[in-house]
Amino acid sequence: MSAPAIEAPTLPPIPESAVMVTLKIARFNPEDDLGAHWDSFQVPTLPTDRLLNLLMYVKNYLDGTFTFRRSCAHGVCGSDAMRINGVNRLACKVLMRDLLPKDSSKSLTITVEPIRGLPVEKDLVVDMEPFFDAFRAVKPYLITTGNEPTRERIQSQADRHRFDDTTKCILCACCTTSCPVFWNDGSYFGPAAIVNAHRFIFDSRDEGAAERMEILNDAEGVWRCRTTFNCTDACPRGIEVTKAIQEVKRALLFSR
Ligand code: SF4
Ligand code: SF4
Ligand code: FES
Repeated sequence: MSAPAIEAPTLPPIPESAVMVTLKIARFNPEDDLGAHWDSFQVPTLPTDRLLNLLMYVKNYLDGTFTFRRSCAHGVCGSDAMRINGVNRLACKVLMRDLLPKDSSKSLTITVEPIRGLPVEKDLVVDMEPFFDAFRAVKPYLITTGNEPTRERIQSQADRHRFDDTTKCILCACCTTSCPVFWNDGSYFGPAAIVNAHRFIFDSRDEGAAERMEILNDAEGVWRCRTTFNCTDACPRGIEVTKAIQEVKRALLFSR
């Protein structure tokens, strides 16, 4: 018996104030013979849209085979990192009003590609395992010894402040996959792993700093960073990534 025909979805009405933009999307499907290529789609947009809305439009109405990750749509889960017009961003945090030309008669093409340096599985979906392997390798959890305290571990506001910035990481990989050192040699731990090591190295309650710093003193560790700041520019949480890396480097120098 042949499979039932799937009806094409009905396009929603286009608001009068919408403008049409071209989304040029990098495509790859390991199960077809087309190889890596670009597909372009005409999509209606309003200044209040986020780029994620446009990607959802393509997926829901134009090509259901288009594949990308997203979840919260509010800049919290970190799953929709992608290269948008050549820079790493979260699609849910890119406002169309920031991309649309002032002159509405001008056309707009937006390129969307997968983040770099990780194997592409399909369209915008990359294999995140090498990224999470580096994260796990720096032991991103509180390490303590001795008996458990009978009450919570006390910390002063000043001590908490030392690692406040690096607690904001959502593991989106925008930083690591914008790093030229990571592109050239995927064995570099990458900025996100160092940020998450920083979060515990500078925590006054933690006793695993020496262990983590030993790991980051490795040939693939912090010394590979060339201070190009791509990672800081890419972070959607505004974390001072390169500064955190510098602080870990300095801690290593003064612990010798
Ligand atoms: S500052 Fe260091 S970690 Fe960040 S992008 Fe540049 S080389 Fe990579
Ligand atoms: S440091 Fe910023 S860019 Fe890097 S993984 Fe964390 S949130 Fe994403
Ligand atoms: S969808 Fe969760 S951060 Fe964008």
